[in-house]
Amino acid sequence: MQSPSDIVSDARTAFAAAASVAELEQAKARFLGKSGALTELLKALGKLSAEERPAAGVAINEAKGTVEALLKDRRDAILAADLAERLKSESVDVTLPGRRQSLGGLHPITRTQSRIEQLFGSMGFGVASGPEIENDFFNFTALRMFPDHPSRSMQDTFYIAGTDRVLRTHTSPVQIRYMRSHQPPIRIICPGRVYRCDHDATHSPMFHQVEGLWVEEGVSLADLKGTLTQFLQRFFERDDLAIRFRPSYFPFVEPGVEIDMEWERTEKGVKYLEIGGAGVVHPDVLRNGGIDPERYSGFAFGMGLDRLAMLRYGVNDLRLFFENDLAFLEQFR
Ligand code: FA5
Repeated sequence: MQSPSDIVSDARTAFAAAASVAELEQAKARFLGKSGALTELLKALGKLSAEERPAAGVAINEAKGTVEALLKDRRDAILAADLAERLKSESVDVTLPGRRQSLGGLHPITRTQSRIEQLFGSMGFGVASGPEIENDFFNFTALRMFPDHPSRSMQDTFYIAGTDRVLRTHTSPVQIRYMRSHQPPIRIICPGRVYRCDHDATHSPMFHQVEGLWVEEGVSLADLKGTLTQFLQRFFERDDLAIRFRPSYFPFVEPGVEIDMEWERTEKGVKYLEIGGAGVVHPDVLRNGGIDPERYSGFAFGMGLDRLAMLRYGVNDLRLFFENDLAFLEQFR
């Protein structure tokens, strides 16, 4: 059987060799466990003579105290080293720059719409709205686009099968809705989404129009030209902007015009882009809106809001606005 001092010396070596708390627990069992070296010594005390027993007992207890102290020191050292290691590996470098939260921005079409509302607002126009799923009556018939009339094919319509509903093809139905609930003087614009079966660089199946309607005594085509010219010059911040009013046909106005605007200026001359239709409101349309055409007259226009955005931002394909490509959209922030 080992002497108490040999056991202490073995324990010192074994504890020092333990690299983790688990290894230390295993080493502890060799000395202090049920059949550990010190426990065996204690069990053997009874076999000693009465004279030998007290001194041997003292020596064993002292050795046990020493082993327990060694064990505690080694456990503390292992835990301290573990903590230091964790602090090192899990530390946070507070001097690193933070991760930036990217800020959203308004879509260029939304910005264009706000700008249009603000400019027309300064000319005394309020903002009205109407449903995007529209009745055939408001979208067509009330605007003198009668069933089977060729004018309906001017706009490639999304019909809702089995109903008399359509996705509105223009913002003009808001004219009728607004006139039916308001009497002149009426001076409104109506920006909003419209839908047509169209798809190329200057046509998108979903696009935006801004309708305008001014009905009052004595309103004429001259007011239409003045209002739109002033709006466009202010919108594009250019007094020399080339604008062209080209005679055209829309069933709901008489006379009717197409509004073209300077797109590119080359040596050969000005290249125009059609941005809208307009005209003096047809007397029947006023009647359909519950307004007396003998007393009142008015003008209306419908401009492609996306086309205005294209021209303002120099974008040559309108579909880019609706592809949700962040690299493209971020340019407008
Ligand atoms: C109309 O929609 C008439 N309601 C405009 C109007 C209102 C005339 C009031 C008279 C009085 P038009 O179909 O031409 O007209 O469309 C008007 C404008 O919408 C066009 O000039 C163009 O700028 C824009 N537009 C038409 N189709 C598309 C499309 N698919 N994508 C983008 N813009 C379009």
